[in-house]
Amino acid sequence: MKYPVDLEPIEAAARRLVGGGLVAFPTETVYGLGADAENPDAIAGIYAVKGRPADHPVIVHLAPGASLDYWACDIPDIAWSLVEAFWPGPLTLILHRAPHVPDAVSGGQDTIGLRCPSHPIAQALLAQFAALKGGHGGVAAPSANKFGQVSPTTADHVRSGFPDLGADQLMILDGGAAQVGIESTILDLSRVGSGTPPVLLRPGHISPKDIADVIGIMPLQQAGPDAPRVSGSLKAHYAPHTPLQLVSRVELDAMLCQPADTTRRVVLAFGAPPLSEEVLAKKGWHWCRAPQKADAYAHDLYARLRDMDAMACDLILLERPPQTPSWQAVNDRIGRAAAAFNP
Ligand code: TXA
Ligand code: MG
Repeated sequence: MKYPVDLEPIEAAARRLVGGGLVAFPTETVYGLGADAENPDAIAGIYAVKGRPADHPVIVHLAPGASLDYWACDIPDIAWSLVEAFWPGPLTLILHRAPHVPDAVSGGQDTIGLRCPSHPIAQALLAQFAALKGGHGGVAAPSANKFGQVSPTTADHVRSGFPDLGADQLMILDGGAAQVGIESTILDLSRVGSGTPPVLLRPGHISPKDIADVIGIMPLQQAGPDAPRVSGSLKAHYAPHTPLQLVSRVELDAMLCQPADTTRRVVLAFGAPPLSEEVLAKKGWHWCRAPQKADAYAHDLYARLRDMDAMACDLILLERPPQTPSWQAVNDRIGRAAAAFNP
């Protein structure tokens, strides 16, 4: 991705991180809320600002070429192959945590999530931060949104998510709209040494097939959004405020044939509406067209959810995308968003 990199704010941001402060920065997936991964007080600051439970682990972001051995131990060979193939890029690897890395980044678990983002501003920030730290330096960063809200894909989304924080409390680097638009693929390699195959913890732009093409093994799939989960874990991510429902095109058309009621609905559908704009408006429906390709859909998804939320409707209806591998990550996110209203 090409994006102008202005070094002055990046250097100031890196100094802010070294001083224990928080910096929101762009990545190719979503914006991250960063702190020094080796400073437990700074990490506590992330949890406080996000309102996130302290037992949730955070991903540590590394500059290109950073040494994996500094952060992780017992690294399986396939991890190196995946790093070679996909870093910098939207793939997070879960590995055994090196003993000196604070508990705070992993919510007390003995693992660590590592990723090297490809956005040029993230890379410049991470490189500058590591240089100031004397060589090694990682930035712990969850998505830069309050716990339970939709991830931010622009600097404005970050700003509007933290209205109470001034620039002195939260510095935000603007890197334009995130290219991928949904969070990284997460692959757990922490039990490969004891014979468990890689496990896909979160689908993303890098697909199970992309991974299998490199390591020759298809990762185990984590249970889908319809499977039983610990209550609350679904609500914690990806949901707008307005109730959201997934529907087929047939269901949508059937709903439109029902007598008008007072519910105001906004629809994100792949095809054209069967009724004119005028008739739709009279029924209290607003119809938006969704991109036909999964990558474009993912790129727009969170901004669309925010826009639809802002329309002050009673119900968001998303037409179900195809159940094919290329839509897996999108289906995961919208499935969780819908499950938040139908636990
Ligand atoms: O694309 C992304 O991954 C973005 C950008 C900012 O890099 N980050 C992101 O972070 O989505 P967050 O905190 O919103 O989601 C991180 C996910 C969580 O579901 C967490 O449970 C999982 O990563 N995770 C992090 N470290 C882990 C670990 N050691 N073991 C298991 N899961 C881990
Ligand atoms: Mg998040």
